[in-house]
Amino acid sequence: APTPSRTLLLFGATGDLAQRMLIPSLYGLDCDGLLPAELRIVGTARSAHDDDDYRTIAREALGRFVEAERLVPDQVERFLSRLSYVSLDASDPAGFSALAERIGAPDGGLSIFLSTAPSLFETTIEGLASVGLTGPAVRLALEKPLGTDLASSREINDAVAARFPEGATFRIDHYLGKETVQNLLALRFANLMFEPLWNRTGIDHVQITVAETVGLEGRVGYYDGVGALRDMVQNHMLQLLALVAMESPAQFTATTIRDEKVKVLRSLRRIDAESAATHSVIGQYGKGAQDGTGVPGYAEELGQPSATETFVALKAHVDNWRWQGVPFYLRTGKRLPERASEIFIQFRDVPHSMFAGRGARLQANKLVIRLQPEENISLMMMAKQPGLDRQGIRLREVPLDLGLANAFADVRRRIAYERLLLDLIEGDPTLFVRRDEVEAQWEWIDAIRAGWAANGMEPKPYAAGTWGPSAAIALTERDGVSWHD
Ligand code: BG6
Repeated sequence: APTPSRTLLLFGATGDLAQRMLIPSLYGLDCDGLLPAELRIVGTARSAHDDDDYRTIAREALGRFVEAERLVPDQVERFLSRLSYVSLDASDPAGFSALAERIGAPDGGLSIFLSTAPSLFETTIEGLASVGLTGPAVRLALEKPLGTDLASSREINDAVAARFPEGATFRIDHYLGKETVQNLLALRFANLMFEPLWNRTGIDHVQITVAETVGLEGRVGYYDGVGALRDMVQNHMLQLLALVAMESPAQFTATTIRDEKVKVLRSLRRIDAESAATHSVIGQYGKGAQDGTGVPGYAEELGQPSATETFVALKAHVDNWRWQGVPFYLRTGKRLPERASEIFIQFRDVPHSMFAGRGARLQANKLVIRLQPEENISLMMMAKQPGLDRQGIRLREVPLDLGLANAFADVRRRIAYERLLLDLIEGDPTLFVRRDEVEAQWEWIDAIRAGWAANGMEPKPYAAGTWGPSAAIALTERDGVSWHD
């Protein structure tokens, strides 16, 4: 087994992700006794701070992003005492020697987490290499976006590969750290009843929805020009799709799981110039209302017109034996009516209904795997409605609910980064994205964007607080399918 790291070095240590997610996650791990006792956390960013300033920043972040009842003073102090800070301009190689001095020889185990703009990745990696902060005991985690297309993603991957072997490279897709995403593996491969039906014979189609209510959230510099396809589909949604569609891995290991996922990603049928107009819909929110409050449109938030899509819906296919003819409908968008992420599996109709002559309409089974806002897994089944009906029997669809919230009521729900940071520190790459996966994802995404360009497709407007442009509804209705909500 790999040795746990003794030092965690955090680039972008004062940034939004660090404050909202990373510091609270590390605190959570510490409280649960999951961090190596000797683990030091060294933060670095450009701004000039000393260790005390940084502890103050971290203390405030905990105050803002951790529930008050979990902030036990002793634990907070113990956690903060792990922290220190080195100010560093990553684009200036000279600064790295001070960092190296602080870290010391990395042989004891070092995990480095880059939560900075990707434009800094290459210089940071070179800076680290120039002062000897690489080698067999060092792991590197990278936050998205890993490029904006296949070519730029390869460039980043090459720069990383020049200094870190693939086995020490931990590409983050925080969706893989979500409980329900891992639960999908348990559901599929720890139960007998789904797998025999989990194919074109049993499943009519799959829907994956990641709906957000937030808008641009002040991320002007990042989001505009990137858009929903690259922000959400390229990574999170394709990972969900791969986990739904993959063959059963022989073991729960980093190699076997990622081998199976990449096969799915490589089997995705291209949506290109010929099919872009019929298999994809893009939208941009205009002014509208959410929860009864008026909200501005995207261009208005941005302060200028833009061709960036804030909504995308796709009809995808996995071209292999298991999934031939089964559409995978994906949709994601900002400023939709509710925050809801789910995987929806529509099973096929029973081959023959003996109830048909007696007025009962059967609904095919559906499996709803909810990721957000609350985790839940529920299977919609037909049941007899109680009562003495003259005409025969009345059937109704009722949920068979896994009731995760109740079954595990005493277990604290962890944020995705707790899982991922722990795996990084312990050296388990299973829930991180391998290079071949990320490149297969980009290849598919690039073809879609080229298809949009070739067809002159521009985002269609939708009012904030609605489910995207009406064309997104037509995308599934043409196939006789409705989006699940
Ligand atoms: C990020 C995207 O990767 O995921 C954001 O950049 C998005 O635009 C976020 O809001 C969604 O994550 P979650 O965990 O809130 O569903």
